Amino acid sequence: MQLWKGRFKKELSKTTNDFNSSISFDSRMYREDIEGSIAHATMLGRCGIIKASEAGHIVQGLKEILEDIESGKLQFDMEAEDIHTFIEGELTARIGDDGKRLHTSRSRNDQVAVDTKLYLKKEVVNVREMLEELVKVIAKKAQLYSSTVMPGYTHLQRAQPITFGHHLLAYAEMFLRDISRLDDCLKRMDEMPLGSCALAGTTYPINREITKELLGFDRITNNSLDGVSDRDYCIEFASALSIIMVHLSRFSEEIIMWCSWEFKFIELDDAFSTGSSIMPQKKNPDIAELVRGKSGRVFGDTMTLLTVMKGIALAYNKDMQEDKEAIFDAVDTVKMCLTAFTPMLDTMRVIPENMRKAAAGGFINATDVADWLTKNGVPFRDAYKATGELVARCIELGTDLESLPLEEYKQVCDVFTDDVYNAISLEYCVSQRTAFGGPAPENVREQAEKIIDKDLKL
Ligand code: ARG
Repeated sequence: MQLWKGRFKKELSKTTNDFNSSISFDSRMYREDIEGSIAHATMLGRCGIIKASEAGHIVQGLKEILEDIESGKLQFDMEAEDIHTFIEGELTARIGDDGKRLHTSRSRNDQVAVDTKLYLKKEVVNVREMLEELVKVIAKKAQLYSSTVMPGYTHLQRAQPITFGHHLLAYAEMFLRDISRLDDCLKRMDEMPLGSCALAGTTYPINREITKELLGFDRITNNSLDGVSDRDYCIEFASALSIIMVHLSRFSEEIIMWCSWEFKFIELDDAFSTGSSIMPQKKNPDIAELVRGKSGRVFGDTMTLLTVMKGIALAYNKDMQEDKEAIFDAVDTVKMCLTAFTPMLDTMRVIPENMRKAAAGGFINATDVADWLTKNGVPFRDAYKATGELVARCIELGTDLESLPLEEYKQVCDVFTDDVYNAISLEYCVSQRTAFGGPAPENVREQAEKIIDKDLKL
């Protein structure tokens, strides 16, 4: 059933109707649509645009529709054009002529904008809560492994010793920024568009402050064209979701590497691993791989939204109906990933011995040898060169810097004394990196504690 019937002589063909219809994906906003309509009808009643009794009937009818949808008594009609049309049609079928007054001084254009904002505001908070939980899980793990030595990498080559806790806290920082990005996004989204109507506002004496208050928005939109025709709040949310996926994807990649036999820094719990149908020995990190893979969907959704919006003249165009599947998919995907990722991380078994073993190879204390020389008066560039020669000598002799005899050190530079061996033990190297933001166990413990105690609530 179309609401705009009057002007037309023919019905839409079935295929055109299916093509045009959005109810299959916008019906998930039924609560917000009803909430928006209740607020609108209440405002119309209070402003004397419709009678108080008419507003009362409408509100009552809408509440009953909501109940019936929730209880499963009322099913969506997939032939309807969209959720707005469906609910208005159902209302009129139930309460008669009063139902036809609901759409006074309103258009589906401001209606759809308010529905999506109401819906997405809740989803921003949902994703945010999931990130809070993830950050707390990371911080607790970091505290547990604050003094676990592991190799830090650049170019995926062993670079300098760090602690596993420090590595984990790097991700906590990223997710904390993601939380603040969501907060920013929520602030900008918090503008109430109802009253913009189709595009040019209205001649009725509406009071937009009433609807704003009833719907819990922070403020009202200032321009009726803008109110119905931007979707920057979808794009911004999708962008924030994309960045979350970048972080989750990098973390997943590391988890995948860490549980390979080449690293074996961790082992995932059986509940978060899968086997192979042919190779009996396999234990695969499918969950982490899926999270990494699903990042592509969310980036794609963001690109969809940007592309849909970039070339359309003000104000509303039907292109904009394409916003919903993209942003809903992005939200659903991120939530699904976080639901799997957080407990996977929480239950993983860390294998400190293997991290320590990996850190012992690859001359990752070479910088510390050079630093020792520098602290003993040798200019850093000379110290760097001398240490390079020592590494070359170690490779020749098949040994490492800890085991290379002092005579070898002295041959390269006579400043060396026995003391150098203490300075290059991995535990010592790490413990000395106490400059703020560094991997020393005490730093990690302090940072982890701060995050654990931090009130992340909105
Ligand atoms: N289903 C439409 C959408 O999602 C609702 C707005 C329709 N407005 C219109 N003038 N056709 O964008």
